[in-house]
Amino acid sequence: MLDVNGLTKTFGSGSNRLQVLKGVDMSIETGEMVALMGPSGSGKSTLLNIIGGLLAGDGGSITLGDRTYGQKNPSNVVDIRREYVGWIFQDFHLLENLTAVDNVAVALELSGMSSKDSEAAARVALTKVGLEDRMDHIPDQLSGGQQQRVAIARAIAGNRPFLLADEPTGNLDIASGKEVLQLFKDLCHDVDNPISILMVTHDPDLASNADRMLLLNDGKTEASDIRSAWGLDEEEGGEEE
Ligand SMILES: Nc1ncnc2c1ncn2[C@@H]1O[C@H](COP(=O)(O)OP(=O)(O)O)[C@@H](O)[C@H]1O
Ligand SMILES: [Mg+2]
Repeated sequence: MLDVNGLTKTFGSGSNRLQVLKGVDMSIETGEMVALMGPSGSGKSTLLNIIGGLLAGDGGSITLGDRTYGQKNPSNVVDIRREYVGWIFQDFHLLENLTAVDNVAVALELSGMSSKDSEAAARVALTKVGLEDRMDHIPDQLSGGQQQRVAIARAIAGNRPFLLADEPTGNLDIASGKEVLQLFKDLCHDVDNPISILMVTHDPDLASNADRMLLLNDGKTEASDIRSAWGLDEEEGGEEE
């Protein structure tokens, strides 16, 4: 589904020059839910922004589905943002005066779908995230976890095959965070319509529940598991063999 090859990105120039990505290589299969960890400021959001077509990289390439980009100006990857990638953020970015169903439907209407079809698709998506009995509630009447599920419904409603989630559980309590993660896994592992998710998280416990874990370290991603993330490999190495 996604292939990132030798992706580089530098901000600033002269003494302010900061090379954030130094040749990132990674792949994500259809149906995979991958957690991305790394220190604050290591470039996780930058990487997501380039994959999502919001920012151009300096070198390397990205292949998502049948599209290749990575260094193209964001105005030339409109189709990536419209058709391929759904976003989920830490703060849910819901419109506070609109019901759950309208929050999801309005995004579809903006992409050109009729009102009637948008509402129908919104109801399907909200049912999929377990909110069938909360369709007509406004965000204020929903818990944080429910609001994030509305945002997830909005992200999947356009049948986008790839979700980028930047610290999606950062504003949630532990139980709601776990529910969101389980929902992500269910969406990825749906046998009829599997999607892929790349999720940034600071929570090693949540990350360890993903299908796979990547660590962004010194401008590159490396495969990781929860044991090496905690420095447990040296102490208890070999135990898993
Ligand atoms: N538009 C920008 N201009 C200059 N520096 C930036 C910009 N965006 C991010 N950075 C810098 O790049 C580094 C990585 O940022 P970011 O990708 O947000 O890290 P993370 O999400 O891992 O915390 C940080 O040092 C940040 O200050
Ligand atoms: Mg970030």
